[in-house]
Amino acid sequence: MRASSHTWEIPAKMALLMFPMLPVQASVESPGLLPTPPMGFNNWSRFQCELNETLFTETAQSMLTRGLRDVGYNRLNLDDCWMRYDRAADGSLQWNTTKFPHGIPWLASYATEHGFHLGIYEDAGNETCGGYPGSYGHEKQDAETFASWGIDYLKLDGCNVWAEEGRSLREEYRLRYGEWHDVLSAMPQPLIFSESAPAYFADNASDWAVVMDWIPEYGELARHSTDVLVYVGEGSAWDSIMNNYDYNTLLVRYQKPGYYNDPDFLIPDHPGLTQTEKKSHFALWASFSAPLIISAYIPDLSDEDIAFLSNKALIAVNQDPLAQQAALVSRDGTFDVLSRSLVNGDRLLTVLNRGAVTAKTTISLARLGLSQSNCQYQARDLVTGKVSTAHGAIEIQLDSHATSVHRIALPKRCSTTTPTGMVFHTPSGLCMTASSGNTVTFEACKASDSQVWSVAAKGGSKLELSPLSDNSVCLTAQKGAVSLAKCGGSGNTWQHFITGHLSNTRGGCLTGESGKGAVQACVVDNAAQIFGLPSGVKLADGAPRWFS
Ligand code: GAL
Repeated sequence: MRASSHTWEIPAKMALLMFPMLPVQASVESPGLLPTPPMGFNNWSRFQCELNETLFTETAQSMLTRGLRDVGYNRLNLDDCWMRYDRAADGSLQWNTTKFPHGIPWLASYATEHGFHLGIYEDAGNETCGGYPGSYGHEKQDAETFASWGIDYLKLDGCNVWAEEGRSLREEYRLRYGEWHDVLSAMPQPLIFSESAPAYFADNASDWAVVMDWIPEYGELARHSTDVLVYVGEGSAWDSIMNNYDYNTLLVRYQKPGYYNDPDFLIPDHPGLTQTEKKSHFALWASFSAPLIISAYIPDLSDEDIAFLSNKALIAVNQDPLAQQAALVSRDGTFDVLSRSLVNGDRLLTVLNRGAVTAKTTISLARLGLSQSNCQYQARDLVTGKVSTAHGAIEIQLDSHATSVHRIALPKRCSTTTPTGMVFHTPSGLCMTASSGNTVTFEACKASDSQVWSVAAKGGSKLELSPLSDNSVCLTAQKGAVSLAKCGGSGNTWQHFITGHLSNTRGGCLTGESGKGAVQACVVDNAAQIFGLPSGVKLADGAPRWFS
């Protein structure tokens, strides 16, 4: 590991486990196996174990005739329960011949002939969540089986994984997913690797962060939260979407071309959702550049559903080669405002009304990182297609649970943008706040300018953070305290690491769960030091990592 300017308190036995290999940095130019997030169909949320060959061939036909294939939905993914309860005499997996009478290789050829790719589900444990044979101890054999069947995408779940003696559970997951990573990447044609490991740590902030740390290096996408409500599930489908949406907002810094955070399936025929909620779901996932995997009975979707799922302007955002994830600019309990950049320099403004009634909000362009004066911007509403001129601010009115997405074109003269938005302690969701007397506190987010930070690049990965409420002051560290002081001074520069640490270049990490913030020694396993920043912030290389 590259030495940094401060001491990381890493237990010696863990130090050896750090950086076992140099991470391959994905980029727009070199995004690896999956340059843009996957789009397609999976049976799970809608049908659970009731999958079969006919469902997949009917779905493919419908995706073709209804135009979904043409707008980019080109993956057909089998989920759990496709196999037999026993392995063959040679140890290989076998498909259920009642469900798949022509066999999985036949289905893979069928998919290819019709312009699709076939994906499959397995599990890193002894059994899948549905009780079918897991892959533990059979990794290479199973990978070769899948490839020989014509499959190019694997979702690897994490049910029934127990730690071997002497290892923590999170270390066990790292070893097993690492083994799969090694097996898959050594193949002549590696399979796309969707990792479910983080979902098994979603209720422990520091374990979750540790697991997330290696995830982008091992695979192309990862499920990180609980399942979106299945078709027959009890409870609120909207709440389950909001739950996964919230988890995704914590993960902005991990996403990059070639690796995507996966907040789970789109469920456009879920009986518990209103039309507005379904459209919101799609608009949010598109803004995130999240996988767009539909779990619904596509032949029976209404034309209105097909129309919003086929919105080319939103799909272009989703498939934008920069793969930035829209990040929170502000949040006040009613409106969530998110923003990101697109590869041509445009800015995206996504607004969600989480409240129970129609409401209006005004968003200053400075909050989107567009702070040059005397600039006029063209803002296109990607749902209605309407173009308006924005000068200074944009006013948005939204029905309850609705989402709007605007794509803002920047005139040449006004093309400078600065990553701007919430800086928040991700485990608690509390917002870093510029408080009176130049103090810095962590408080409930209320969408004030004192909670929106402009993050200026200061060479390399050095950053300066200034609140919109007073752009003459910057976040400063001094003798264990964090405060606001005149920008440009010493003690004002910080670096953000993939682990979420915000480290002062003079030493020490921002620390704070609630109340007054502090600067303390950077500790790799300290949940009070995990922060989310706006999208587009350059991460420091050589992030401290720990694999246990
Ligand atoms: C869950 C997973 C679901 C589905 C299911 C199959 O763990 O999150 O997406 O794959 O297992 O049993």
